[in-house]
Amino acid sequence: MKLKFIILIMSLLAGTNQLSGAKQHHIVLSTENTSIGITANEGGRSYIQYYGTKIQQEDIYRLFALKSNYTSPSYPTFGLNIGHGVMEALSLQMPDGNMSTDLYVTAVDQNSDKNGNYLEITMLDSVYPIEVKQYFKTCNNTDVITTWTQISNKGKKSIIMNKFASAAIPLQRGDNYVCHYHGRWASENYIYETPMPNGELVLDEKEGLRTAWYNNPSFMITQDGKPQEEYGNVFGGTLLWGGNYKIQMVAENNKLTVVAGINSDNSAYSLEPGETFITPEFAMTFSNQGKGGISRAFHKWGRTYGLQHGNQERDILLNSWEGVYFNVNQEKMEQMMKDISDLGGELFVMDDGWFGEKYPRNNGTSSLGDWGINKNKLPLGIKGLTDAAKKYGIKFGIWIEPEMANTISELYDKHPDWVLQCKNRKISTGRGGTQVVLDLCNPKVQDYVFSITDNLLKNNPEIAYIKWDCNAAMMDYGSTYLSADKQMEVDIRYHMGLRNVLKRIREKYPDVIIQCCSSGGGRISYGFLPWFDEFWTSDNTDAYQRLYMQWSASQFYPAIAMASHVSASPNHQTRRETPIKFRFDVAMTGRLGMEMQPQDMTEKEYEFSKRAIASYKSVRKIIQLGDLYRLISPYEHKNISALMFADEQKSHLVIFAYNVDYMHSQQVPFVKLTGVDENKNYRIKDLTPMDAAKPCFLNGKVISGRLLKHTGLQLKDILNKPFTSVALELTAE
Ligand code: GLA
Repeated sequence: MKLKFIILIMSLLAGTNQLSGAKQHHIVLSTENTSIGITANEGGRSYIQYYGTKIQQEDIYRLFALKSNYTSPSYPTFGLNIGHGVMEALSLQMPDGNMSTDLYVTAVDQNSDKNGNYLEITMLDSVYPIEVKQYFKTCNNTDVITTWTQISNKGKKSIIMNKFASAAIPLQRGDNYVCHYHGRWASENYIYETPMPNGELVLDEKEGLRTAWYNNPSFMITQDGKPQEEYGNVFGGTLLWGGNYKIQMVAENNKLTVVAGINSDNSAYSLEPGETFITPEFAMTFSNQGKGGISRAFHKWGRTYGLQHGNQERDILLNSWEGVYFNVNQEKMEQMMKDISDLGGELFVMDDGWFGEKYPRNNGTSSLGDWGINKNKLPLGIKGLTDAAKKYGIKFGIWIEPEMANTISELYDKHPDWVLQCKNRKISTGRGGTQVVLDLCNPKVQDYVFSITDNLLKNNPEIAYIKWDCNAAMMDYGSTYLSADKQMEVDIRYHMGLRNVLKRIREKYPDVIIQCCSSGGGRISYGFLPWFDEFWTSDNTDAYQRLYMQWSASQFYPAIAMASHVSASPNHQTRRETPIKFRFDVAMTGRLGMEMQPQDMTEKEYEFSKRAIASYKSVRKIIQLGDLYRLISPYEHKNISALMFADEQKSHLVIFAYNVDYMHSQQVPFVKLTGVDENKNYRIKDLTPMDAAKPCFLNGKVISGRLLKHTGLQLKDILNKPFTSVALELTAE
């Protein structure tokens, strides 16, 4: 009796209405270090009361007593004054024109499977035949919770969905800063950290296909002021959707709400009778260890759930693009295979330029869609290439751009209706003045795109790696396949179609490694990565600019997925000249590869590359599977930048430091290793001395973790010129 009374009082304090006798649910769903608190009383509405560091079940009642709960609807709807006072997540237009939705909880279920614990809240509209199931799921062994909804039309007429976000998460309004990542071609993902104003801040994409280019769908929000690397309460979120998205942050008075989902601008969705629409997952975490805590949580989650083969070390490769561009032929490919094998690499990837029979692919103006090998360039076919790879003891990979065609192609000659186009209008073209986008809304086109990969892998089972590219925007928002009333759904249906293709490929070819490339880093997003192993970080391979881009990509995406290639000097995109050691030391912080003509290296550079590749192999496990600690950010312009990777026991560390800004008599900050074990002593090894006989002065020294953490390393004698760098391995004794 007493307990019931307390719960009733608590429910009133929690701001939740409920019918007498109906079941009450105050749920705390937790990961190892975080919790979300939800009240969903049957007959009442559903509310998020808390999201942050871990709390216990009884704490949710204490939060009510302290009035410190957020009491924000877990899925706010549009059209009625029901005290929500926040941005809506769901906006529907009923068949009779009614613009409002009013959801009540009818059931709450909790379940678990091998991946985590689920909470399912079922809600029904009080009048109209709409059912919404909202899910929250913990991901075992990580601090990430994902959330999404399932919207069903239980009636007999279409319902128009004008907005259908995945999540509406209330956060503590304080001295909030938003960290987001913005870019364009060759300068992807620059970090921006801005104070959260009162009002609205929006991160979105409308490009259609390269939806991580302009704004990345990942972001952080701090709670206590300026973003810090290793302390402070921070929220991190990312939307698992490859199509257009919109993330709205709305702050007023004491509230800050994040509403994230598919971008429904110009993209309403007609939900047919009996149809269920599943919104993409929104993944989130919370850390009291600053941005570094968010990154490590997402890296771990990414390796386990967010990408393919996340626990499998990656091969070191040579990609042919910057070495020969479109001038692919058997002789050059063989020579490059021989070189990468000689250098200690394990994989060769033949990039663009290998296909097209009637219309040979010699530049960007033709042939996409015609995936037969060009016999003039490669008379021995793919077999000739895989045989050569075998001869040199390496694996073979190949580039494709399967979502595309050129107007100069046999495919377009045969199926002009297979490309996206707007009725009664001239078709728009992209790269080369002829590139067009295939209509993946059409199941026949999906089958065709699947068959490109299927044929390659079926006929050449030796292919171990695919570079899947996408070099166009959704230029024409129209489909010859969709009916007039579905034209507004083109972007959504395209991405559903693409998912369908990728799913089929993964079901049939679970082992092949696939890179997600999109004019460089246009698809660095967990909206794509579940089907891929890695992403191409940028077409800009200049090591200096990569320091900035890789630093920002590392905020959410793990090193194992970050393709990072050593290229020629002067760099082809920026013309900057940097030493080979600097280029290797930068590329080694991701999945190391090369993208140049090895024959153009001097003997000294070639010999160095061999040693650097061997060194990378000796520490690749720590870089690719370990924890990242960012030490000094290049964005702080302190002349140097540094980062480190550590294994779980912190007995094996790899440290990289770079001169990024040379000034005479400059002050060089100490590099303090935040991720070390203070109780261990570490022996230092120089991993990449330019001259094998002359490692840096730290080589062979033993230093305590205590000193490394609190005093740090002074590297002014090493980082004493523009583009100097050092890579150190520290092993606990
Ligand atoms: C895109 C990719 C490059 C390369 C070219 C080939 O730009 O990002 O890496 O594959 O296409 O045309």
